[in-house]
Amino acid sequence: MNLFPALNSIYTKEQLSARDAQRLAEFIAFGPIVFQVSRLMIKFGILDMLRNSHDGLTREEIACKTGLSDYAVKVLTDASLTIGSILLDTATERFSLSKTGWFLLNDPATRVNIDFNHDVNYEGWFHLEEALLEGKPAGLKHFGDWNTIYEGLSQIPEPARKSWLAFDHFYSDSSFDKALEIVFSRPIRTLLDVGGNTGRWAMRCVEYDHEVNVTIMDLPQQLEMMRSQTDGKSGADRITGYEINLLDTNASFPTGKHFNAVWMSQFLDCFGEEEIAGILRRAAKAMTGETRLYIMETFWDRQKYEPAAFCLTQISLYFTAMANGNSKMYHSEDMQRLVEAAGLRVETIHDHLGQGHSIMVCKL
Ligand SMILES: C[S@@+](CC[C@H](N)C(=O)[O-])C[C@H]1O[C@@H](n2cnc3c(N)ncnc32)[C@H](O)[C@@H]1O
Repeated sequence: MNLFPALNSIYTKEQLSARDAQRLAEFIAFGPIVFQVSRLMIKFGILDMLRNSHDGLTREEIACKTGLSDYAVKVLTDASLTIGSILLDTATERFSLSKTGWFLLNDPATRVNIDFNHDVNYEGWFHLEEALLEGKPAGLKHFGDWNTIYEGLSQIPEPARKSWLAFDHFYSDSSFDKALEIVFSRPIRTLLDVGGNTGRWAMRCVEYDHEVNVTIMDLPQQLEMMRSQTDGKSGADRITGYEINLLDTNASFPTGKHFNAVWMSQFLDCFGEEEIAGILRRAAKAMTGETRLYIMETFWDRQKYEPAAFCLTQISLYFTAMANGNSKMYHSEDMQRLVEAAGLRVETIHDHLGQGHSIMVCKL
């Protein structure tokens, strides 16, 4: 298995002393409470207060400012001190923010991940074991009786829906500027956006190029959300919806229309390998020698920084327990193998867009 050089040095050799390894093992054992304490230190505004204070705050001051009991502040600050998100000046008994606390508070990716994990995944992950054994998203029953989360996306209760969309958009939105340059470096008049969701990429395309027509292919529920989001916006008249459930192996891509570009962003990770093979075979049938297929994914092996690879391999378990029971964040070699099995060839791969996307450009 090939890894990006920055990951190779970390994942192929032991990095920790025995003492550090033991600490990490305990950090994992108490992972759920480390997560909840840290989330609440943000929610109750404690980390924010510490950041904004000149010389830190005492426990009494935190209790007074938050309205929390002395006991509540004591357990939260004791735990946060040993987690490493806050520091204590023993001479003044004042707490301040550590570097980790600063990232918890200010790093947008961390904030989106915390909300996603609490609002969407936390209770569902209790059913991970069942999901792994049965190949079904056993944690999804917490929200409703659907086969996949995508069927229920327009109905899952708040704040889960908001956090799901914020998570999805956060990752893809930050790559769109560079992706537009890559896709529109060739003349594109017709683009098929497979799994176009609420139409954010399609809107960016019609704003970027005043002649392009975009067809969004997605489940009917998502096309409804897309229509209400794009309604009345400039260029929305060049966006059309095409209802499909791609898990139905008889459902084919639009026929009788030539597409210069087929776009799949954060889409194939919603499917298991066999399903991807089937989708790519159907995509290939809708392509000509001139069409390019752009697969934009966060491949965990192609990350520049290790924390991104960590996040992605953990996010895979959201797909297991919550989304569909059989998909994941893929290694790029797995994706390339599936592309080639569908009769396509990888022409180029562009790496390091936005929060760690790659675009695999494929042709017949
Ligand atoms: C993770 S979202 C990606 C959205 C968007 N492309 C982006 O980059 O932000 C995956 C999309 O695939 C769609 N999808 C999932 N399963 C599908 C299926 N069986 N048939 C058609 N679309 C599906 C979902 O409805 C959703 O809009």
